[in-house]
Amino acid sequence: MSKKIFSGVQPTGNLHLGNYLGAIKNFVDLNNDNQNECIFCVVDLHAITVKQEQDQLTNNIRETAATFIASGIDPSKSIIFNQSKVHAHAEGSWILSCMAPMGWLNRMTQFKEKAGKDKEKASVGLYIYPILMASDILLYDATHVPVGEDQKQHLELTRDIAQKFNKDFGCEDFLRVPEPLIKKNFSRIMSLKDGLKKMSKSDPSDLSRINLTDTKDEIINKIKKAKTDSLPIPNEYQELNERLEAKNLLGIYSSILDQTLDKTLKEFGGKNFSDLKSQLAEVLSSKISPISDEIKKLIDDQNYLDKVLAEGANKAEVIAGKKIKEMKKIIGF
Ligand code: TYM
Repeated sequence: MSKKIFSGVQPTGNLHLGNYLGAIKNFVDLNNDNQNECIFCVVDLHAITVKQEQDQLTNNIRETAATFIASGIDPSKSIIFNQSKVHAHAEGSWILSCMAPMGWLNRMTQFKEKAGKDKEKASVGLYIYPILMASDILLYDATHVPVGEDQKQHLELTRDIAQKFNKDFGCEDFLRVPEPLIKKNFSRIMSLKDGLKKMSKSDPSDLSRINLTDTKDEIINKIKKAKTDSLPIPNEYQELNERLEAKNLLGIYSSILDQTLDKTLKEFGGKNFSDLKSQLAEVLSSKISPISDEIKKLIDDQNYLDKVLAEGANKAEVIAGKKIKEMKKIIGF
């Protein structure tokens, strides 16, 4: 069955292995299936919910597009564009924010995490961020949304908002209720330094993550320094529940090689972490270094990246423009 795919990544720098294994690698597989229509968005409006430096933001938008392409997304098959270039996203977000009850937003755990203790100082944009995300998805009638586990709650909210809009305006099926595509075992890649914390671009320690622009030596060094425990690697999956760092490294190895965790446990069960670490460093550097080299090459070709983004925005505008027009008509504008 053909799928309409939509997903987004924030251009906030330091795209890392979590973004790659949780999302971008799946984008590539979906792009490679000729039956799918794919749209991948650099969500720059989301990025400004926290403070960004202007020049850096401009560069990060290009770098995120470069990362999509370097990872294997083909811009002649999939639409790649940045959100701020298509007006309908912000307009749709306003309309949906008038439909969504505050109680639904108050439940969003990511806002609580990101706003931290000083909620009063967080931007209003950060609070309504999931509504902009709903607008992104619903404007394209997306059937499937590939994301990491941390976006699950936002997708549930998107589904609720779509259903409420359809019900409130008596327009059954106008907003398509999308399905999340979340990889079962590997949708939450954890920090290399703490198995309880998600791998994240905002972690102050660069050793906690593998950046997609890291060199081979940096990757080897980070894997060498990754936290483990003193026991040998277990044979059984159940034993991993108490050993989060081991579970994470085995998960990363399985995910990058597209193999089951069971197969990886058979390979390494009973061995020491040094065996796993040396293999993992090798596999990661062989998969990530070519992406890293390609990102660096593409970043030097600003004209090409700007052209991809502009062409993508033109195509996205046609789809989203039509949908927002229909939406406004339904509302009575
Ligand atoms: P963002 O930019 O934080 O992350 C981009 C994608 O990477 C995934 N991800 C992870 N997956 C596994 N392990 C991790 N440690 C990890 N860290 C990040 C995220 O789940 C995400 O899929 N709100 C979104 C962007 C967005 C969006 C959308 C996504 C805006 N509009 C519409 C889908 C559809 C975000 O902040 O992702």
